[in-house]
Amino acid sequence: MFLPWFLLLFLKTSAIEVSNSTNNNITVICQREHEYDDLDPRTVMGKWKVVELYLHLRKEGVNTYKSCPIITLWETDDFPRSTYGPSTENQLFHVQHINAKFRQEYRHLRLLWDEAGETIEYALYFRNDSAGYWQVLDGQNGTITNRSTYQQFSGSVQVLKAVNDHLLLSFCQEGTATAPAQLYSVLFSRNPGTMPRWEIDSVHTLLQNKKLSVASRRMVCGNSADKPYGMVFSMLTCLLAYLIRMS
Ligand SMILES: *[C@@H]1O[C@H](CO)[C@@H](O)[C@H](O)[C@H]1NC(C)=O
Ligand SMILES: *[C@@H]1O[C@H](CO)[C@@H](O)[C@H](O)[C@H]1NC(C)=O
Ligand SMILES: *[C@@H]1O[C@H](CO)[C@@H](O)[C@H](O)[C@H]1NC(C)=O
Ligand SMILES: *[C@@H]1O[C@H](CO)[C@@H](O)[C@H](O)[C@H]1NC(C)=O
Ligand SMILES: *[C@@H]1O[C@H](CO)[C@@H](O)[C@H](O)[C@H]1NC(C)=O
Repeated sequence: MFLPWFLLLFLKTSAIEVSNSTNNNITVICQREHEYDDLDPRTVMGKWKVVELYLHLRKEGVNTYKSCPIITLWETDDFPRSTYGPSTENQLFHVQHINAKFRQEYRHLRLLWDEAGETIEYALYFRNDSAGYWQVLDGQNGTITNRSTYQQFSGSVQVLKAVNDHLLLSFCQEGTATAPAQLYSVLFSRNPGTMPRWEIDSVHTLLQNKKLSVASRRMVCGNSADKPYGMVFSMLTCLLAYLIRMS
């Protein structure tokens, strides 16, 4: 049967899952960038299609995933959640005071990762004067986070590149005694399939210049970025064979 296999593929393979780090012993220091401090958050809101994921701590090579994850970014006023803050019952006033101050100083952002209906929702916050640096406010929720393999992300998300049609975000979490380090980046596009090879290459160069390896990457939506080369190569081969036959 086609259907069960099809379902299984989407349920079991999620391109975002980076939980099973084989490199737990590595020391990660999250570098704070300032290039996008004065980012206008409105320019990155809305829907983005995932192009590639870069798993800087892993050694898994280049893999292609069939799923086509989409993210949605939006700003919201409804924060902090009730679970946030030093909430013991007799400190309620204190908590509300902290919350009010927090609300004044920070803005709240949500990032929803949707991979064939499987989801992760990140709650993030940032200051106006560093709008490209988003910190995790709370635990993630969504169906993917319910899997036993999911490792909560409690680090920061930085905008490494934001132009009209593509966005590069880097997720970094320093390791602790209880949670291993996480370090991965994701390239997004407004329009899938239209990101030219040279633009993807320039993103690779940007990452490599920051000492972030692109050797282990996951290409989603069956989009092998090497396809154009492969096609040109096979066309050339055909032409050559044809010319040889002609002569
Ligand atoms: C996690 O890693 C272990 C050992 O490295 C491996 O056997 C297992 O299949 C991995 N699990 C996933 C979900 O990748
Ligand atoms: C982890 O790193 C420390 C210090 O770099 C090293 O001494 C230790 O052997 C490493 N452990 C493993 C399991 O690789
Ligand atoms: C951030 O900047 C926007 C626009 O400049 C302004 O409307 C808003 O009040 C500021 N928010 C905070 C928390 O300072
Ligand atoms: C995550 O939790 C928030 C707040 O409870 C809720 O509004 C949101 O719909 C949840 N998201 C997902 C993907 O379950
Ligand atoms: C995740 O699991 C909890 C309980 O295990 C359940 O209450 C919740 O609805 C689940 N969330 C999603 C998005 O499936």
